[in-house]
Amino acid sequence: MSTPSEHVPVTAVRPEMLPFWMPFTANRQFKANPRLLARAEGMHYFTPEGRPVLDGTAGLWCVNAGHGREQISNAVAAQIREMEYAPLFNMGHPIAFQFAERLAAMAPEGLNRVFFTNSGSESVDTALKIAIAYHRVKGEGARQRLIGREKGYHGVGFGGISVGGMVNNRKFFGALLPGVDHLRHTLDIEHNAFSRGLPQWGAHLADDLQRIAELHDPSTIAAVIVEPVAGSAGVILPPVGYLKKLREICDRHGILLIFDEVITGFGRLGEPFAADFFGVKPDIITAAKGLTNGSIPMGAVFVRNEIYDAFMTGPEHAIELFHGYTYSGHPVACAAGLAVLDIYEQEDLLTRAKEMSDYWEDAVHSLRGMPHVIDVRNLGLVAGIELASRDGAPGARAFDAHIKCFEKGALVRFTGDIIALSPPLIIEKQHIDELFGTIGEVLKTID
Ligand SMILES: Cc1ncc(COP(=O)(O)O)c(C=O)c1O
Repeated sequence: MSTPSEHVPVTAVRPEMLPFWMPFTANRQFKANPRLLARAEGMHYFTPEGRPVLDGTAGLWCVNAGHGREQISNAVAAQIREMEYAPLFNMGHPIAFQFAERLAAMAPEGLNRVFFTNSGSESVDTALKIAIAYHRVKGEGARQRLIGREKGYHGVGFGGISVGGMVNNRKFFGALLPGVDHLRHTLDIEHNAFSRGLPQWGAHLADDLQRIAELHDPSTIAAVIVEPVAGSAGVILPPVGYLKKLREICDRHGILLIFDEVITGFGRLGEPFAADFFGVKPDIITAAKGLTNGSIPMGAVFVRNEIYDAFMTGPEHAIELFHGYTYSGHPVACAAGLAVLDIYEQEDLLTRAKEMSDYWEDAVHSLRGMPHVIDVRNLGLVAGIELASRDGAPGARAFDAHIKCFEKGALVRFTGDIIALSPPLIIEKQHIDELFGTIGEVLKTID
């Protein structure tokens, strides 16, 4: 994912930090100069010394309702006391059904069946498996190919990295799944730099799907999966009309369309789902992160009712889908999720990004003309600020910006030389001013 700076000196790794092999981290560098977050409340993290850090990233795109929400911690504590775990394989517990019912009611119409997982990666692999199995139960077992997209991020399972398109996430892990092809990505700074919101140029890139369908023959393709807005590769927006075009091509050929909404689900663009925002209905939606406000790991896969129905045709005593996790529909995660949905509803958070997005957009674009900035991109409460790379050291400049912002009290994310922002949806204008003020100052000071 990110390329850490090579020139930050690695002094001595702290021995007490050695045992924990940290995920997606330059372990030696970090353990020599750690940045720790010990507490959180509202829009802020606090370091162990008590220094506040403004959260510009909602953790990792997940703490949409902000930090330290008592409604969630109370619900979680009560559920652990009541029943910490019960199996869901041929058994049930009420709260999983309640949570699925609430989710189904807010999902785009027609996608009202919910399969629970524990993460975005598991949601993706679940969606891919359901897509292939769906065609098989319908008698189209030849449809096994999966189409992803360059620069796509779909988590770290073998399915997800196979359809994903981030080179470092793929190249270490062998041959990956067979039968996978990729659309071109939609990032084009030459045509679209400094677009406000969706870029105008590039809808034709969706025609790649038609080309790939013709190459392999559509009857061999199970599904295409895309992030409606790609986050991990550095905030890549779909050109105007692109997603509709993908939908049309899928319809023409009987290909399922999967939207990976792990980061866009639950209000990031100012609608509950990106599918609502773009007015394009996929067949399957993957979700996680904002589902429980990041408080308890959980993911969900929303499927079109007809897909579920297609599996419900064999003998009634037989398991219809040989798939599931010990912790699918975990009662504590469901309790957290129900409390989170209450908060989203009570505070209108799933549409709040719409209200804030003009102010956010102006703030993002105020960075145009700052040192090193070659593009800024924004939509809803998402922003990407692309910096020119230093010669021979890609990623170093954004890494420095990340470190300097942290020192100045703002948490921003970096991927390659792109600073990515996705704050909690409770953000106020003064936080936006502070966040972009800090980034602007930092850009003036780094080389
Ligand atoms: C679009 C998308 N899909 C899947 C994932 C994987 O989610 P997780 O890290 O919960 O497995 C992510 C994580 O950032 C994501 O952004």
